[in-house]
Amino acid sequence: MIPQVEPWIDNSELEQLKRVIESTYLTENKITKEFEEGVRELTAAKHAIAVCNGTMALYCGLKALGIGFGDEVIVPDLTFVASSNAVLMTGAKPIFCDIEKDHLLIDVDAAEELVTEKTKAIMPVHLYGQSADMTKVLEFAARHNLRVIEDAAQAIGVKYKSIHVGLQGDVSGISFYGNKTITCGEGGIILTNSDEIAQSCRRLKNHGRDRRGTFVHEHIGFNFSMTEMQSAIGVSQLKKLPAIIQRKQEIHDTYAEGLKNIEQLEITPIAPRCEPVHWFTSFYAEDRAELVDYLAENKIQTRRFFCPLHLQPCYQDSVDPEREYPITTQAYERAISLPSAYGLKPEQQEYVIEKIHQFYSGR
Ligand SMILES: Cc1ncc(COP(=O)(O)O)c(C=O)c1O
Repeated sequence: MIPQVEPWIDNSELEQLKRVIESTYLTENKITKEFEEGVRELTAAKHAIAVCNGTMALYCGLKALGIGFGDEVIVPDLTFVASSNAVLMTGAKPIFCDIEKDHLLIDVDAAEELVTEKTKAIMPVHLYGQSADMTKVLEFAARHNLRVIEDAAQAIGVKYKSIHVGLQGDVSGISFYGNKTITCGEGGIILTNSDEIAQSCRRLKNHGRDRRGTFVHEHIGFNFSMTEMQSAIGVSQLKKLPAIIQRKQEIHDTYAEGLKNIEQLEITPIAPRCEPVHWFTSFYAEDRAELVDYLAENKIQTRRFFCPLHLQPCYQDSVDPEREYPITTQAYERAISLPSAYGLKPEQQEYVIEKIHQFYSGR
């Protein structure tokens, strides 16, 4: 099977892991600091705080903004379910918002009618390695006195107006789950330029205290720490990031060129305002379900877009039945993500392109 996505793991991760084993210090310590510093340098954030995964990065960010019971947070309808679940964990209610007609990102104009006196924040999600329109998000947030938490789980390396995503709002979370552009297996980073938010997040992830080794807790906190093993893999992966970004761009461009003459396919558009990282290359496809089956029969793995939140079985009790989400629904019906792993060989990509041509020929 040609995998849809796969991490690039080799001896360099093993070498970094050896350092951890030799040190015998497994819980968060110097190598986690090194990983945080690497992400801080990459993004130019004032603070980069490692946590156990991207969901907890978002949870800590929301809590640090004071979001909790009785509050509402506007979340795009097209995202991975963890975006809205992080809101739920705080006790607040996620309110789903449609995406832009031409792109895959939150439609700030559609968000206007979702604002109530309970709305406290908006969470743009930088989906599939593109940036939401942060100028519009920030203007909207300022007008309604809202905080901004950016879900940058899928967006390491993505820039908006030459600034790494996750730094224009108040706080953000990046994920290093196994299928992300770079991975720690599991892992997350909170980015913020605010000292106050950073301090709250550090306390939240460390049992409510500023330092380890003290057992008097002035604040409520939990344990969302990284391990040195995860961070060691992250340190190695950060070094590979430029090569991965470049290869993902080549994969994207090769699909765009190789499939441009198929009228039943349309590459998902890129928001013109951002410097994307093509985590996945995706297309809107006629007869998507049949195409997926045909490619699977030919040992090519593909992926559908995320099921929109308003269609998720677990959210049916809280969805407003009057509200419609035409754009997310249509994107979900039509989109397919093609094999996009760093390790995709040129001949494998040629094979994928050839099979897609075969599928549509004569249709
Ligand atoms: C958009 C989005 N938000 C949040 C998350 C949660 O990150 P994690 O799986 O690291 O908890 C993910 C990824 O898995 C994601 O894709």
